[in-house]
Amino acid sequence: SQAEPLVVEGTSYPRDEYTNATPTILSKLPRRLHLQPSHPIGILRKQIEAHFSSFAHLNSISPIVTVQQNFDDLGFPPDHPGRALTDSYYLNKQHMLRTHTSAHEVESFRKGLDQFLLSADVYRRDEIDRSHYPVFHQMEGCNVVDPAQGGIERLERENAEMRSALQRANIVIDDPTGDETATNPYQSEHDPRVARIIAEHLKNSLNGLVLRLFGPNADKQGEPLQVRWIEATFPWTAPSYEVEVLFNGKWLEILGCGVVRQEALARSGVSHKQGWAFGLGLERIAMVLFSIPDIRLFWSQDDRFLSQFREGEISTFKPYSKYPECYKDLAFWLPERAGEEAVGKAWHENDFMEVVRDEAGDLVEGVQLSDPTNENLFSSRLARQIDEFTHPKTKRQSRCYRFTYRSMDRSLSNEEVNLIQDRLVERVTNEMQVEVR
Ligand code: PHE
Repeated sequence: SQAEPLVVEGTSYPRDEYTNATPTILSKLPRRLHLQPSHPIGILRKQIEAHFSSFAHLNSISPIVTVQQNFDDLGFPPDHPGRALTDSYYLNKQHMLRTHTSAHEVESFRKGLDQFLLSADVYRRDEIDRSHYPVFHQMEGCNVVDPAQGGIERLERENAEMRSALQRANIVIDDPTGDETATNPYQSEHDPRVARIIAEHLKNSLNGLVLRLFGPNADKQGEPLQVRWIEATFPWTAPSYEVEVLFNGKWLEILGCGVVRQEALARSGVSHKQGWAFGLGLERIAMVLFSIPDIRLFWSQDDRFLSQFREGEISTFKPYSKYPECYKDLAFWLPERAGEEAVGKAWHENDFMEVVRDEAGDLVEGVQLSDPTNENLFSSRLARQIDEFTHPKTKRQSRCYRFTYRSMDRSLSNEEVNLIQDRLVERVTNEMQVEVR
């Protein structure tokens, strides 16, 4: 009931108006896919660790963090959208499921760790399709040095080595972010020469990583691997970048990174140090390297999935079968004052997605706004114009969603899907003040 505290991994958290973590989400915590040695996520994690072999490797930190760790320590402003109840899972006002591995940077620096990789499960509320899942895995890499102990000279020596290795490799790096720019400046506390050395060390390290991961697979026709660097912004790094890799003809965004802000290092009690940090998403990379077509497969317990992978090997997944899909449509009127009320009260699509995930679990492949008048499916953005119908008299808004049900492991019966859909409609009606049409 409402009054009982949430008990997660043996600790109890009093519920409050922030509590939005569902049993379905909490049931994922013990899975720890990144620790499974012959699971694609575990295999990829180890390959990245091998690239940073001299770093400390931290892999078993609890996903429950404070809002302070996840946001405040990193300088996220109080009104940052990532903090919204619609985007993150909260146990209560103080505790949440981490949304990124950066949540552990400050505490790790505080412990005196200088070079470390940290892999972990992270949680974000999102839409439902083949590449989004509310739990995924990230790896954080950090490298800080003490300039008074010759740290910058060491980075320079390593830069020279990495630079010449990259020059000999079959890689084309497009990097228009070369030096600082007006939109992506060095920190005012930094000597520009030193900031440039750190940024170059970050870029060399990550270009080397990308080459190791994608090179052997992209190299089929002897074509060079193509990588590009893009300016970005993160509250705790400056300058900041994103990296994209061209793979099978598509640019794939794989990581965010930057030179760590001195504010974050000072908060960790190591204001005398300087360095860089990156965070990358393992599922995205694993989906392309292992040819895994649906993100739900990572969570499959089916032997036909699990038995295909071997420790230490990146191999191509062979789909064992594609079971038939089953469509259901649902149209409803939104609550009257949708969008105008206080945080947590307004209709939000992610709340709807949460109920769907809670009832349908991994049997739902996608939920998209759809046009009920013809059979086309639209990407949710395009569809918005068609499927957000406003009643001319009552001004009420209507939504129509198409559900695609498909199991990864077996055929679903129509009765089974109807049962799920009925329960779901009941919950949506009761909990979200919508009126089914
Ligand atoms: N945590 C960021 C994300 O999830 C990535 C990042 C890590 C950016 C470290 C900068 C430094 O998008």
